[in-house]
Amino acid sequence: MSSTYQLLFFPQTVYSTVLSIEVVLCAFLLLVVFGFWFAPGGLAWALSKSQARMAIPGPSGFPLFGMVFVFTGSATHRVLAKLSQSFNAVKLMAFSVGFTRFIISSHPDTAKEILNSSAFSDRPVKESAYELLFHRAMGFAPFGDYWRNLRRISATHLFSPRRIASFGTFRSEIGLKIVEEIRATMLLKGEVEMKKVLHYGSLNNVMMSVFGRSYDFKKTGDGFELEELVSEGYELLGIFNWSDHFPVLGWLDLQGVRKRSRVLVSKVNVFVGKIIEEHKRKRVNGVLGDESGGDFVDVLLDLEKEKRLDHADMIAVLWEMIFRGTDTVAILLEWILARMVLHPEIQSKAQSEIDSVVGTTRTISDSDLQNLPYLQAIVKESLRMHPPGPLLSWARLAVHDVHIGNYFVPAGTTAMVNMWAITHDEASWSEPNEFKPERFMEEDVSIMGSDLRLAPFGSGRRVCPGKAMGLVTVQLWLAQLLQNFNWVPSYAGVDLSECLKLSLEMKNPLICGAVPRNA
Ligand code: HEM
Repeated sequence: MSSTYQLLFFPQTVYSTVLSIEVVLCAFLLLVVFGFWFAPGGLAWALSKSQARMAIPGPSGFPLFGMVFVFTGSATHRVLAKLSQSFNAVKLMAFSVGFTRFIISSHPDTAKEILNSSAFSDRPVKESAYELLFHRAMGFAPFGDYWRNLRRISATHLFSPRRIASFGTFRSEIGLKIVEEIRATMLLKGEVEMKKVLHYGSLNNVMMSVFGRSYDFKKTGDGFELEELVSEGYELLGIFNWSDHFPVLGWLDLQGVRKRSRVLVSKVNVFVGKIIEEHKRKRVNGVLGDESGGDFVDVLLDLEKEKRLDHADMIAVLWEMIFRGTDTVAILLEWILARMVLHPEIQSKAQSEIDSVVGTTRTISDSDLQNLPYLQAIVKESLRMHPPGPLLSWARLAVHDVHIGNYFVPAGTTAMVNMWAITHDEASWSEPNEFKPERFMEEDVSIMGSDLRLAPFGSGRRVCPGKAMGLVTVQLWLAQLLQNFNWVPSYAGVDLSECLKLSLEMKNPLICGAVPRNA
């Protein structure tokens, strides 16, 4: 810039005392950058090619950080629900977390558009999931032949109605073990903390259907080691990892997520590798003698050559099932029991139904469940009020540019559905904050993904493949627990505060009394 120009714009006195041309340039740059930050949806959106189109409403958040603090808290689903109301963005809201672009739907129509669109058939892979090799497992594998093969194999050999039914006896036995454990704890302590009891039961249930064996979770031994591996995995997958959204931090691994994941992977390789070897040893010339077809490990070993998974992929696939299938079931049951304690009239109505259909002493089996509509309504209402994945667990990723309604969404955008916001919206539900299973006796709402007012298992091609297995387990164990006990509050009462980790947990685990009904 010539000195004449400088003098024209900045009189000599001001120029020399306050401003230099560098300061002006910096101020200009800051203005431009702040302009980006204050754009609807924040920095990541401002930097995208959607700029020229109709902007999706949403908060700009903090400079550079965007809405990062929404994810570091424990009530992300509630904060996002409030934000989408206040930005008049229930159908679709945009926001940024560092350099990651997000959209979130809190409305059944746009939720359907997202979940059922082939444009959102991938998931963003967090660093922890990648390091734990989950990109080779079904939940994070990119949409394509490998993922399709895994879906097909598990739909036929793990989640088919025939296969689910074949594990019915074992499921019922675990339910009875849970009952016995509760009985023993009540005798000893006069109250019972449900979280661990349900978690161990659920872990064994998954271990049996996938690995063909169950465990004792004592202070030492395989069961103890398994529990340690699983807890570490849950923690790593649940951590908000700054490097996922700020690539420059990636190589620093400030939170130690990468290091811990690698240690865990090597332990898991040994643990699961041992189980696979045991399965191989049982075979004669590589062939399984068992007519039942064995467990899921056997199924994977029996795949035809071209579809066969290599050793590392097999471990990833098997290991993922434990993470997906264990806590969702245990946590949902804990919420349901909390509700039973809080609503004794609903509890006794469900018990009367069980007494009249099954009686007070006969062991309940899967086949009884279809005759227990009120019990099923309780499970539905609990999924509505306390969905284990309020943001549908793991998000979706736009694989190419796409439109949602009139809004343009560029490839690479992370898409979420706030199922919690939808199931608590007065536009879809009367008295949404009241626990009323009766609503499902009056109206039959499918929860399997076709009605987006209540889709706790997601929808579309990446809908939860374990939904039928998860549901039958929750219903059966709930029926057994209600048949055997009256559920009453302990001295501490019931606290319904939530804490969103990998799933939506009770912040203060349920401690209650279980009074035997047939003493
Ligand atoms: C109450 C129980 C359960 C709930 C609430 C639940 C919920 C979910 C949700 C919301 C998704 C994401 C769906 C989407 O993106 O549209 C999902 C995916 C998945 N779930 Fe479940 N789930 C449950 C039980 C299970 C069980 C028992 C298993 C297996 C043993 C399982 C295995 C999976 C897998 C593998 C995926 C990834 C599917 C893919 O990306 O192709 N889930 N689940």
